[in-house]
Order: sequence, then structure tokens, then C-alpha cells
Amino acid sequence: MLETVIKRDRDLGTPARESAVTVTLTIDGQEITVPEGTSLMRAAAEAGINIPKLCATDSLEPFGSCRLCLVQIEGRRGYPASCTTPAENGMVVYTETPKLHDLRRGVMELYISDHPLDCLTCPANGDCELQDMAGVVGLRNVRYGYDGANHLKSEKDESNPYFTYDASKCIVCNRCVRACEETQGTFALTISGKGFESRVSPGQDQPFLDSECVSCGACVQACPTSTLQEKTVIMMGQAEHSVVTTCAYCGVGCGFKAEMKGQEVVRMVPWKDGQANRGHSCVKGRFAWGYATHKERVLKPMIRKHITDSWKEVSWDEAINYAASEFRRIQGQYGRDAVGGITSSRCTNEETWLVQKLVRAAFGTNNVDTCARVCHSPTGYGLKQTLGESAGTQTFDSVMHTDVVIVMGANPSSGHPVFASRLKRRLRQGARLIVIDPRRIELVSSPHIKADFHLQVRPGTNTALLSSLAHVIATENLIAEAFVAERCEAKAFKEWRDFVSLPENSPEAMEEITGVPAQAVRGAARLYATGGNGSIYYGLGVTEHSQGSTTVMAIANLAMATGNIGREGVGVNPLRGQNNVQGSCDMGSFPHELPGYRHISDNTVRAQFEKDWGVTLQPEPGLRIPNMFEAALGGSFKGLYCQGEDIVQSDPNTQHVAASLAAMECIVVQDLFLNETAKYAHVFLPGSSFLEKDGTFTNAERRISRVRKVMEPKNGKSDWEVTVALSNALGYPMDYKHPREIMDEIARLTPTFSGVSYEKLDKLGSLQWPCNDEAPDGTPIMHIEEFVRGKGKFMITKYVPTDERSTRRFPLLLTTGRILSQYNVGAQTRRTPNVMWHGEDVLELHPQDAEDRGVKDGDWVGIQSRAGETVLRATLTDRVQPGVVYTTFHFPESGANVVTTDSSDWATNCPEYKVTAVQVTRVSQPSEWQRQWSRFADIQQKLLRERSRENEAALTGK
Ligand code: SF4
Ligand code: SF4
Ligand code: SF4
Ligand code: FES
Repeated sequence: MLETVIKRDRDLGTPARESAVTVTLTIDGQEITVPEGTSLMRAAAEAGINIPKLCATDSLEPFGSCRLCLVQIEGRRGYPASCTTPAENGMVVYTETPKLHDLRRGVMELYISDHPLDCLTCPANGDCELQDMAGVVGLRNVRYGYDGANHLKSEKDESNPYFTYDASKCIVCNRCVRACEETQGTFALTISGKGFESRVSPGQDQPFLDSECVSCGACVQACPTSTLQEKTVIMMGQAEHSVVTTCAYCGVGCGFKAEMKGQEVVRMVPWKDGQANRGHSCVKGRFAWGYATHKERVLKPMIRKHITDSWKEVSWDEAINYAASEFRRIQGQYGRDAVGGITSSRCTNEETWLVQKLVRAAFGTNNVDTCARVCHSPTGYGLKQTLGESAGTQTFDSVMHTDVVIVMGANPSSGHPVFASRLKRRLRQGARLIVIDPRRIELVSSPHIKADFHLQVRPGTNTALLSSLAHVIATENLIAEAFVAERCEAKAFKEWRDFVSLPENSPEAMEEITGVPAQAVRGAARLYATGGNGSIYYGLGVTEHSQGSTTVMAIANLAMATGNIGREGVGVNPLRGQNNVQGSCDMGSFPHELPGYRHISDNTVRAQFEKDWGVTLQPEPGLRIPNMFEAALGGSFKGLYCQGEDIVQSDPNTQHVAASLAAMECIVVQDLFLNETAKYAHVFLPGSSFLEKDGTFTNAERRISRVRKVMEPKNGKSDWEVTVALSNALGYPMDYKHPREIMDEIARLTPTFSGVSYEKLDKLGSLQWPCNDEAPDGTPIMHIEEFVRGKGKFMITKYVPTDERSTRRFPLLLTTGRILSQYNVGAQTRRTPNVMWHGEDVLELHPQDAEDRGVKDGDWVGIQSRAGETVLRATLTDRVQPGVVYTTFHFPESGANVVTTDSSDWATNCPEYKVTAVQVTRVSQPSEWQRQWSRFADIQQKLLRERSRENEAALTGK
């Protein structure tokens, strides 16, 4: 997967066609058979014959504008464009004749006559299709010259921080416009003007930055010239080699080619063969990687006795030995279980495996947990109970076979943008859409897409709404009886049917609770049950509730009841937030489960690990994150190893979390930056970015993809090496030369991973677990013949109102989410130009609620809950319904989680981020918490500054 020379991916000119019918024709004397509908251009390319082209590319539908791809067909007049002409049986086609050469040279002459001939100084020199085609058609001179009108003085649009639009180089091939429409689905670009005046125009003839453009880069990728060009390429020149790796941002898990010059990234190009992204990307993965070399990265290990002390830079050995001695001291003084660890969903599977192994084997406790506790733990629980496996059932490609999609509690356009583009493509082809969300997300109404139903559910009432959907399906005889009879437990199904059929679960009875009109619920239920392949995609708007696990089970019930599981186009699909949430759960990060979701109390499973690891493991589950906080405040939990998570910013009830950390005696934080959690730390171990290490990530499809080191770690060690060193210092030996050996151990001890190896991943590109003897190449779709648990199990999902209800004191419901340009706690994306799109968190408030409170757009408002108070700027919008307010949590100073409470899911303790009863009032100054935060942050920055300044030199290489 390392290319020593950059090769452009082979471009077959037009997209592949799927058809059972084939046609056979002759091109340049070769007989060729292709699926019906294939263009002549692609048929020729598949036979190794490259027809010159400019406006065609195989990621986009053909357009037929450049006239360079002309061919001759026996028995036909004229010279048709091969990109738009379908192959037919018996055709005899010629691609190279003297006449065609003349015609093509004439076309190229016209293009070149209005093109700056600055190839040697052009940033695309060597990577320009216009330049290539001039060579291919044998252009030797241009008769027209520059004497007439030309575009050489056109002004560049530099507004986008990542790419430039230089109109003087535009050949108006329309590829960018089509990429924005077909690949991305944003429709931000048009060709304005006619003939010679034609030019690419974002939005209403606006600069890119002011238009609807979301900076996905698809147009830049599609542009055959340097008209749309990455600024890094303009600055650094063409790359020298490339390495295929995986994006470290969201759970889509896009494959990228990191194009490199030595140790520096020139650009990240979405990998055409990436099975999760199929050559597409979003602004984060494509452009927002500059944080990896940001000057605020901490590159030297640091220690301090108290959090009021200055940091002291020390060697790796000193830091690791200090951390180990502190953990052992604490265990000696307070008991074995006084310490624990938190694994990271941003780190690799291998790194996560090692952290949970360190906690279980070296600490000798099961006090290990992960950030999935606060996001998708209800998915694990709910799907395991009903279907038997704690993961989504499909591939992303499966959405192209769906007929009706339910998107519930997720905003893919922001959280999972590359999946959103694929979904939108399917919706434009005619699939129907049901959105269940308190907020009018972008999908409800976007270019060429309109949801059939938007069930604007009141926060906290998801389970009630799903019961009412199920009621319609059960009482209107819409159940897939044969599927249920064959595949599901009969007794549990009968109990479920009786339960959902109760009059109190009818849409009419539930309307008052959910706020969703009964007729809309009835319509949506009928559509999902009868509209063909029905699929459900859901996010944290489902899980982060007091009934998160119940709602996940209700979703699985719906899919089973309608037979929408076990084939292409259907299924239950949790959209995972962080890049490796799936992986960190698979790797045994939960305190009650060994890797592969096997309970720690299972003697047989534990014995396998004990034998392999040479230790005795505790049979009792350890502490979950919230229990660790409680124990810390109670004085029995004193030491924490926290890798790659910022629990102070991301976990609910910030003041409670901070107080818990302040009560501990040794907190070891391993991260890129001095984040909010590190401000409470005693040992800081510098983390490595995804560019600096080898390993694997597992995305929301259960797809395991390789992460490859493209540069040496700036801090001298990859994260896995640090955990190995810490374990050795604790006296539990770990000895791995390469993460490949850790994967071999994972495969040895985890049945669903037993067939996984780096060799196989390199060969196949990626793999979806389970991957074992029964499925050596992985399992794209689960539960095909039978459910993992045997028979599917319907669960009773009774609606229990949350305690977080609006009251006279707190009459509004706050719900939280994320935005496209920022990622999670923002530690990475805030350190990139992505802040140009979102520089602060704001509070969305319905105009009616604003008027009641005398709040105007842009005013500062205080948001008070029973947990705390923060102040944000108000944005008035009817995206939220009256009574509901919404914010994001990407900036620490916003303190969104100061307001969220410790209310949590009954089964898994996943916090109820999505429902907090609040009051909103107009204010003129930051909250008391914000003032304290500023003071504390200033002190911590000062304590950091007081250490030596060697870091900068390491980053800049001086
Ligand atoms: S900007 Fe590039 S892709 Fe778009 S029309 Fe011009 S040359 Fe073609
Ligand atoms: S960057 Fe993406 S959204 Fe913006 S114009 Fe290009 S294709 Fe459209
Ligand atoms: S969709 Fe997710 S994985 Fe893909 S580029 Fe964007 S952030 Fe990265
Ligand atoms: S490539 Fe066929 S017309 Fe442009």
C-alpha cells in the first residue's frame, strides 16, 4: 500500500453498469463483452484501449461536452462521443483513425488557445489531464494565439481556506458541477454565463466560502486541470510518494491516500478503492489534518506532583517509571481496585487492546471503560439482547438497495457526511425517507430531497414513538408473518405483539406524549412496513437517553417485525460517532466484557485469556466511568490512565467530573494536546497522531481498515509503544515489535477476529468482522440465515418518562449534537482552519421562545439546569420546535456539559445528553463556571509555559 511514485488511479471514463444482460462488440479489432448500458469509452478502457477524454471521469455520469472522445462506428454517420454512446451488440468501433486524430487536435487547439501556457510553473504540472491530453493527441502548435478574448486575467477565488479557484485555467468541462451534485449531493455549483462567458459559479455567484459549499473537495478531485487546486499543492508542489491509510475522524472510516513529500503530507486524497467511502470524503478527513503538526502539540513527557505545580519535562523512562510507581503506591495504599484506565475510540484497535490488557493484567482489576459508555453502549446492549450481536448489520453500500430509510436521532450530513452523500444519492433515485428527530435536520429538506415524513418527536419520548409505529404495524396486519415465524422466538413475539397492540400504545394515545400527529405516525409506519426494503440508520439521538437501550431494542423489534433484516438494502445501522468506537468496544474496553463481547464471569473465556496472558484475571466486572467518578469522590479510587479521551469536556456534568479528577492522586493522560482532562493530570504522555502509527480502525460497518504510518512519531513513540513501556514498568511484561503482532494476539483470542491478519487486510483492502473459518473474507451482511443468537428475540419496550422533564423552573428541553466542520471535543478541528465555518458553539432557540424571553439573534443567553449554568450566543431558528433548544459541544469554554446532568440509560449508564430541562435568560456576562474555567485554564497554560520550550524546535525541525 506504499506507492513510491504517485500514480493517478486508472480512470475508465464512465461509471460501471450493472446488468445481467451483456453485449458483444468489436473495438479496434478486439472483441469485447460488457454489461448492457456500458459506454463505448468504458468498454474500450476495459479492453486496455484508452480513448482521449476531458469531461468524462468514471466517478460521474457522462456529459458529452468536450468532444475529445470521438470515435467512428461502422455504418453510422458522423463521429459520436464515446462517453455518451452505449455499446451495442455487433458494433464495430474505431478509436484511432487519421480523421479522428485531426478532429481531436482541433478540439485541443481550441482549449489550449484560451489556456495559460505556464505548464512548468503550474502547480498541477505532471498531474493535469489537459496537459496529458495535449500530449496524447499530438498537439504541436496552436493556430489561434491569445490575440482574441481570453480569461487570463480572471480573478482567483481564494476564499476557501483549503483550495483555490483559478478561472483562467477552467475548461468548463462541468466535472466539478457534476461532482458536487452526484458525488456530494450539495448542488453548490453551476456554470453561469453562456459560451465564452461561461464560468463556474458557487451559490448565487458568491465566493466559495460564502456559498452552500461544504468543502468536501469532490470538485477539486474531479477537476482535470489546476483550476480547483489544493493550497497545499500550490505551496509545496507535487507529492513524491503516497501511502493508503484510514481517516481518524468519524465512524464512516474513509480510506485515503496520504500523498507525501518526505515526512510532510502534501494532501489527503480519498481512496478510490476505499470500500467505505468509494473515493469520496468530507472537509475533515480531506483537509483538516494540520492539527498533527500544530505548535500546541506537547511532544515531551511531563510530570508534576500536584496539579498546582509547574510541569517538568522528563525523559520517557522517567515519566513511565514515575507513573508506574504512583500506580503501585496507590494500589499498595488504597487497594488493587483504586486504579483504572480509559481506552480511546480515537486510537487503534491494537492500542485499545493493550490498554484494556494493561488494566486487567498489569493493574489486576477490571476497572476499564471507554467513551462508548457515553455514546453507543446502549447499541451494544440493545442489539445483543435482540439480535445477538452488538453491531450494525450492513455495509454502507447496502443503502443503494434500500427503498425506505428511517433516519432516527442522527444527522448524517454533519456527523457522517460521506455516508450522507451516498444516502442522498439513493434518495434522489427515488428511495423514500422518514426522519425521526426533534430538530429539522438538513436531510428533511435539501436539494432534490424531501422527507416523506418528519416525525418531530419531543426529546425523551423516542420509545413512545416507536411503540406507536409498532402498534400500527401490529394492528394493521403489516407484520412479516412468515419471517417472524421462521426466524424469531414465538413466545417473545406474541408477548410483544400483545404489548404494542394495547390501545395505550396507539399513535392517537401517544400523540400527547410524543408531540407527533397520529396520522403522520400511521403514514410512516405503513411506508416502512410496505415500501420494499426498509432500513434504519440511527445515532446518538437514540442512545443518549434514560431509555437508550430500550429504544435500540424497539428499533430491532421493528426491523424483525417487518422482515427487514438479513439481506441487502435493509437492517439496523448504528452510525458510530468516533472513528474507532466500534473497535474500542470490540476490543474489550467495557468493565464487564472481555474482547469479543464475552462476559468476564465466563470461566472458560477467562481461562483462555489467563493462559495466553499468564495472569489470573478478576471474575467480577470493574467500574464504569461514572462509577469511577463516584468512587473518586468517595475516596476509594485514586489513579487513572486515560488514553486519548477528554472526559472533562465530553462527559456530562462537568463540575462533577472535574471534582472527581481533583480528588485523585495520579492521573496519567496520553494525548496530543494539553486538553481539559490533562489540566488535572500528574503525568502527561505525549500521544501520536494517526499519521504516525500503524494499526487498524473498525468503522460503523464493522469494517477493519489499516492505519499506516506515513511519518515518524513527532514525540518519538507511537501510542502502543507507550502502553507497552508502562506495562513493563508495572512489572507485567509486554513484548511486541509491531502492531501486526498485537493483531495476531487479537485474532488468537477473539473468535470474531480469528481470520484477521495484516496480510489479509493488505490483500483485500479491508474486512468486516466476523472474519473466521466460516467467513474467511469477512461478513458484509449479518443475520442472513439466522440471527447470531439463533432466533431473534422481541423485547417489551415500555415507555418510561425520563426524570428530566420540563418544569416551571426549567421549562425548555436542551438537546445537543455536532456540526460538520468540528469533531467531538474539537481538540483536532479547532486547531485547523475549520474554525472558519464554526468558531464558537451557539444556542439554537425557536423565535417564539426567544420572544417570550426578550432574546434577539446574537444575544448572550444563560442556560441554567439543575447541574449548572453556562452562557452562549443565541441563534434564532425554526429548525428547533418551540420548547426545545439545541447546542454543540466543540469548544471547552462553551460548557455545554456543565448543563447536562448525570441522568443516564437504565442499562448502560450512557448519559442522557439529549434531554436536559433548562431555563434560558438574557444575560450580559459569562457564567460563574465560565469565569472559573478561564482562571483555571490560564493557570494551567502558565504552568505549561513554564516548562522548557524544546517542543517547538521538534515540531519545526529547527
Ligand atoms: S473548474 Fe475544473 S472541473 Fe470545473 S469546469 Fe473548470 S476545469 Fe472543469
Ligand atoms: S467542495 Fe464539495 S460542496 Fe464545495 S463546491 Fe466542491 S463539491 Fe461542492
Ligand atoms: S466522513 Fe468521516 S471518515 Fe470520511 S473523511 Fe469525513 S470525517 Fe473522515
Ligand atoms: S470525454 Fe466524451 S465528450 Fe468529453
